[in-house]
Amino acid sequence: DAKDADYLISLMRAIPDFPKEGILFRDIMPVFADARGMAILMDALVSNLSIPNDDFDAIAGLEARGFLFGPILAERLGKGFIAVRKAGKLPPPTAKQSYALEYGEATIEIERNAIREGERILIVDDLIATGGSAGAARDLVISCGGVVTGFSFIVELAGLDGIQSLGGYPASSLLTMP
Ligand code: HPA
Repeated sequence: DAKDADYLISLMRAIPDFPKEGILFRDIMPVFADARGMAILMDALVSNLSIPNDDFDAIAGLEARGFLFGPILAERLGKGFIAVRKAGKLPPPTAKQSYALEYGEATIEIERNAIREGERILIVDDLIATGGSAGAARDLVISCGGVVTGFSFIVELAGLDGIQSLGGYPASSLLTMP
């Protein structure tokens, strides 16, 4: 309800000029430090899924903050959890995908055998900005034979068209912030 939403928002911090000058950094860690905050968060994620629970088989979460709630959400929904990691952390065989950052490039990986052919995947992360990492996770899941069924985020940064950049998949975010 509205009181819960206000409480959740009250836990989020905005830090100017971090990690770089001109960036207003949204910090969700205080939500996880707070028992009531985490309960509200998980309930809200469960009730705001962009697709029905029966329409996907597993959740893929992005390192690092997608690891904080992706497995909790998966367990609540009776699904498995697949880790989308930064390159170099997972043993072979893996699939890799690179994507552009504001400056430079990053690479993410999945264990190839973690996804079955045709497995229907919901991709989760804490925050979507331009959508670069979420789009790379989408391509990675597809390259492993998975079917991307949708996305779930906690925070969407306004004005960056991150969700629109993903290609028309069902997607939800709990909060839109400047
Ligand atoms: N917070 C956390 N991660 C981010 C942000 C932010 O505001 N912008 C891009 N990645």
